[in-house]
Amino acid sequence: MNIRYNDTRKDLPQEQLRRLFMLVGWSDGSETPEQKEHYNIGFINSTFVVSAWDDEHLVGAVRVLSDKVFRSVIYDLLVDPEYQNNGIGSELVERCIKHFPKSEWLVQTTEQVASYYEKLGFKVNNDAFLTIPCALFTVVHKQQELL
Ligand SMILES: CC(C)(COP(=O)(O)OP(=O)(O)OC[C@H]1O[C@@H](n2cnc3c(N)ncnc32)[C@H](O)[C@@H]1OP(=O)(O)O)[C@@H](O)C(=O)NCCC(=O)NCCS
Repeated sequence: MNIRYNDTRKDLPQEQLRRLFMLVGWSDGSETPEQKEHYNIGFINSTFVVSAWDDEHLVGAVRVLSDKVFRSVIYDLLVDPEYQNNGIGSELVERCIKHFPKSEWLVQTTEQVASYYEKLGFKVNNDAFLTIPCALFTVVHKQQELL
């Protein structure tokens, strides 16, 4: 498997990105045409994006919101199920951490995936994470439904 990583491109192809979201169960495919047209807006507006490619095929991605010094937050780490367990997810996260090496890192995740991040050096804490949900996108979290 010859995976190429790109850490300069943020405008990931809409349809390929949406396909990835569907493959991991984060989209049920019911987006409106307007949502489909802006599928990559969160990536474009992020501070840092890393994507993984098999030839021209997008197989993984992650995005980071960061002040570049103190605090960085990881969002939307995902790898095509057919390519999982080949180190792609770890490589994506490690490239983010190396890019802002002094920063504190945060990620909001499910209990199921927490152990994955612990292997990458994250520590679970019990700080409350308060939210107001996004009004534009409802992300289907299959994994959360399973908890
Ligand atoms: C989580 C995810 C990104 C991992 O990507 P990946 O490329 O398969 O991960 P890697 O190959 O780097 O790591 C594989 C290791 O992580 C473990 N792992 C994979 N998914 C895991 C999960 N959900 N929970 C805990 N451990 C997990 C594997 O068992 C394997 O362990 P090993 O190294 O001891 O054999 C991928 O499973 C995915 O896209 N999941 C759906 C989306 C998701 O939940 N993203 C995280 C959002 S916060």
